[in-house]
Amino acid sequence: MGGYAFGDSAPAARRLGLLADVFEPPSRELLERFAGVPLDLAVDLGCGPGHTTRLVASVTGARRTLGLDQSEAFVALAAAGAPPGVSFAVHDVTVVPFPAGPAGLVYGRFLLSHLPDPAAALAAWATQLAPGGLLLVEEVERIHTVQPALRRYLDTAAALLAARGHTLEIGAALHRLPDPPGVDRRLDRVAPLAPPAALAAKLFAQNLAVWRGDGVRSGVATEAALDRLAADLAAVTAGTAEGRIAWELRQLAFQRAAT
Ligand SMILES: C[S@@+](CC[C@H](N)C(=O)[O-])C[C@H]1O[C@@H](n2cnc3c(N)ncnc32)[C@H](O)[C@@H]1O
Repeated sequence: MGGYAFGDSAPAARRLGLLADVFEPPSRELLERFAGVPLDLAVDLGCGPGHTTRLVASVTGARRTLGLDQSEAFVALAAAGAPPGVSFAVHDVTVVPFPAGPAGLVYGRFLLSHLPDPAAALAAWATQLAPGGLLLVEEVERIHTVQPALRRYLDTAAALLAARGHTLEIGAALHRLPDPPGVDRRLDRVAPLAPPAALAAKLFAQNLAVWRGDGVRSGVATEAALDRLAADLAAVTAGTAEGRIAWELRQLAFQRAAT
């Protein structure tokens, strides 16, 4: 199997809007750490409806920022509100070259967990860097929760991804990979994030509504189980069921030599 499991419908785009709000602080911090050098071109891989692309553009101040995604629907949405200097194109990011010149910065968030061969993807992306260029990636390392509905959602979503050969908590595997050819690892760390459980439940409920048909068809869960899960997530969203959740995000930076 393959393909992006979480779709590109209007509800999927709305979910990515909420996700962008929740995960902006650690992503902004990562980008700020490497900002401050003049950049001609920054590329945001798997940009979805463009939230990360706009963040990359505003933090780095790159002269041009290009968002790439395989979804025509997401790229059309992203392009509709694009500020000056920010553009988007439909492109399968496992294929190089990208439709742009060598980039001073290539960024990708929550993308490697949806690709069949993350090591090959990183190696391909590294070839698209200008001398001295940086490759920044952020993926899920671990999601900690014992809240029953949140835990059940995560186990079911992980099973759905696994059925496609993909891995939700891919961070540790990225940590163990050797550096891609031609680049050196400049940063390899885990960043913590603990949003309110109600917000996480809302995010999960929105995603469940997107993939529940696939979940039933692929045998990952029954209709009845997903109905119960949706109701239990609604209770957490409404604050009538309590709990805690914490993410660990793997943040990696690789740099091509300056000469
Ligand atoms: C979880 S979303 C992340 C969106 C954005 N990076 C963010 O963090 O908000 C993953 C995105 O990767 C895109 N995607 C998945 N596989 C892709 C591929 N092979 N080429 C281009 N885009 C891809 C999906 O269409 C989706 O927009």
